[in-house]
Amino acid sequence: MSAELEVPLGERGYRVRIGQGLLADPDPLRAAIRGRQVLLLSNTTVAPLYAARVETALTGMQLRTVLLEDGERHKTVESAARIWQALAELGAQRNATLLALGGGVIGDLGGFAAACWMRGIDFIQLPTTLLAMVDSSVGGKTGVNLPQGKNLVGAFWQPRLVLADIDTLATLPAREYRAGLAEVVKYGAIFDAAFFDWLERHADALSARAPETLAQAVLRSCRHKTAVVVRDERENGERALLNFGHTFGHALETLGDYSLLLHGEAVAIGMCMAAQLSAELGLAPTADGARLRELLRALGLPTTRPSPVAPRRMVELMRLDKKTLSDRLRLILWRGIGRAEIFDGIDAEAVVASLADDAID
Ligand code: NAD
Ligand code: GLY
Repeated sequence: MSAELEVPLGERGYRVRIGQGLLADPDPLRAAIRGRQVLLLSNTTVAPLYAARVETALTGMQLRTVLLEDGERHKTVESAARIWQALAELGAQRNATLLALGGGVIGDLGGFAAACWMRGIDFIQLPTTLLAMVDSSVGGKTGVNLPQGKNLVGAFWQPRLVLADIDTLATLPAREYRAGLAEVVKYGAIFDAAFFDWLERHADALSARAPETLAQAVLRSCRHKTAVVVRDERENGERALLNFGHTFGHALETLGDYSLLLHGEAVAIGMCMAAQLSAELGLAPTADGARLRELLRALGLPTTRPSPVAPRRMVELMRLDKKTLSDRLRLILWRGIGRAEIFDGIDAEAVVASLADDAID
């Protein structure tokens, strides 16, 4: 299967192509590159697997490759400066293009570097993780981390093209792959009950990484991401729905010092916590929360916290995440499968009580 989506954002609009063999196909890549100068950004894990395909597709262009060390800790201003240095050495002009080949770390960093070079050059997302295919490569959020926090410096800078080559997912470590599935489930949970049903029916095929099933899951996820981004590019409103489970998840990530849980694993647990709170507040049926837990489990994801967590500490961290000291929280909760909403004024004590069930205080 090969599919294409339009992201209609006027002069910032672009296409998302999803399918097999895309990295080795020179035509879409070359058609999206305006000049002849290309900087290929990747890391030391992904490049040995896939950079040659891209380099071959771009034969004849003025190409320079920059490889960073692998890992979130390299998503820094210092790495961005290395990219700018390489662009300077390439003599990159305003019509140069940056290609970001890798997961969300490379995509966020590459997009940020491209947004700043000469006040903005083209960049193309070549996502190689499931998370990057269904979330980070589409929508134009770019950035780097500071010691003070994740993604504190960044820009909205839309790519010129996204090529999601499903073949690359074959080499993704199992845990990373499953973490990406959590974001796929999220789209069903917040927007699309029919997609949620489909995921339940195809859980085995997804776990086996069946390419056709995967391509369909990526396509449906990207449709939702694209639709939200087009309606609310700068996250003034409904784009926040994409953060279902994330406020709980970020707190869990912080408690685990960012080493215990992958982001997608924390989101899986966070979505279950959001579903439980929704049921306790009388917003959603308990049975829908049970279905969510069941699907996540079938996909090999955690649904409860790995170790006991003090509920008050959790809520403190959630307040920090929301940058509020108020005893009322703004949270993304749901009314049931496919129906997430933004809720203002959720009583922090209700959250504490909801988290208290199997926790220590
Ligand atoms: P990642 O980029 O660190 O990739 C995960 C691991 O998989 C890395 O070790 C990477 O080298 C390896 N890898 C990547 N592709 C591979 C492949 N095909 N085969 C083998 N190994 C491969 O992590 P991620 O989960 O892709 O992205 C996380 C980042 O994305 C975070 O920095 C997060 O802030 C960001 N993010 C951004 C947005 C956004 O909208 N911009 C949304 C969600 C997350
Ligand atoms: N990952 C959330 C967003 O793009 O808004």
